[in-house]
Amino acid sequence: MLGVMASKTIRKIRRKSWCTFVSAVCSLVVLCLFSINNQLLSFETWDSKKIPSTKFYSMPLEMGHHYRNLQNVIHYGNVSQIQSGVISEGTSFKKVFTNEEARGNTLTEEEKVSGKTDKLSLKDKEKERKRRLPQAIIIGVKKGGTRALLEFLRVHPDVRATGPEPHFFDKHYHKGLDWYRMLMPETMPNQLTIEKTPSYFVTKEVPSRIFRMSNSTKLLIVVRDPVTRAISDYTQILSKHGGKIKSFQSSAFLNNDTTKINTSWIVIRIGLYVKHLENWLSVFPLKQIHFVHGENLVTNPGEEMRKVQKFLGLKQFITEQHFIMNKSRGFPCIKKKITNKRGHCLDDTKGRKHPQLPEEVTSSLRRFYRPYNEKFYQVTNINFNWT
Ligand code: A3P
Repeated sequence: MLGVMASKTIRKIRRKSWCTFVSAVCSLVVLCLFSINNQLLSFETWDSKKIPSTKFYSMPLEMGHHYRNLQNVIHYGNVSQIQSGVISEGTSFKKVFTNEEARGNTLTEEEKVSGKTDKLSLKDKEKERKRRLPQAIIIGVKKGGTRALLEFLRVHPDVRATGPEPHFFDKHYHKGLDWYRMLMPETMPNQLTIEKTPSYFVTKEVPSRIFRMSNSTKLLIVVRDPVTRAISDYTQILSKHGGKIKSFQSSAFLNNDTTKINTSWIVIRIGLYVKHLENWLSVFPLKQIHFVHGENLVTNPGEEMRKVQKFLGLKQFITEQHFIMNKSRGFPCIKKKITNKRGHCLDDTKGRKHPQLPEEVTSSLRRFYRPYNEKFYQVTNINFNWT
């Protein structure tokens, strides 16, 4: 009886051990699978080139995390990499990268070679073309040679200029800066926008208005002997109004007395350069104003343009070789290319023939202007040598 009981117990124990053995083997297999799985994932996702191993290291992920990450890969087609690690103790790191990011946020060599970038930059460049407020203004003086200066500057590849005179700061100021900007030509960021309105020089409100637009605006003034300037101005008035206007003498002198100058006549008043300049110098520093020698602009345009380009911070593009003298008119014409045989000359309204005035009229005017001219030379530090 005892023998039978003993053999039954032995069989039971054997069956249990077998079960324990089988379950132990199963556990081992499952553990192995886990381990292989995690190792594979770590291997796939780690990119030592992107994240230095000194900072991050791959962490064995739990099954749940792994599964979710795999879902990311499947769900978002543009996800190409998963990185995981720890930044510092206890802070886990897990980042899903898009294809673009995975490529290091840069274009491939292939894309570069295919010109994709060129097309992009050209498009971007086009976007930069827009109307800008002028960085430089020719503010005067009327009949000094302002049109010639503007036309000469226009030949420079880094300059774009308005055609007609905008008269914004003296006549249209109430229309606002956006209105003004719309009058400007389209420019690239490296190009200079310039306009000319000679009446600005003699209009009291203009300096502070320009300063308010931009205190770094560069100002250019073409000055010419105030006596010939006055006669030139009068010649223009004559050509517009014909014989209906008073003689030069009756407007320039009070009571027909050549010793009494009528300073209220605008034709005379404009030539008091130093007076107008004082108004500008109360707002702008002298170094922000460039004086172009009007007579020299006719006889030696290359030299005057060299100074102008220097003042405007432009490369020296316009040289003597850009000019050709129109012998019959006695004025230089500008060539777009130095190889051109012909140049662009100003129209007949520039370089008109002046009326011959009695000698006592011109000498009286010279006497009148002399002290003002002397003062002007002092203030500008330039001797214009007007007699
Ligand atoms: P005149 O017509 O009295 O000769 P503005 O353009 O400021 O109105 O100035 C006109 C003056 O520019 C002309 O006055 C002329 O003397 C001068 N000028 C200077 N360079 C010139 C050029 N290359 N062609 C024609 N006129 C020029």
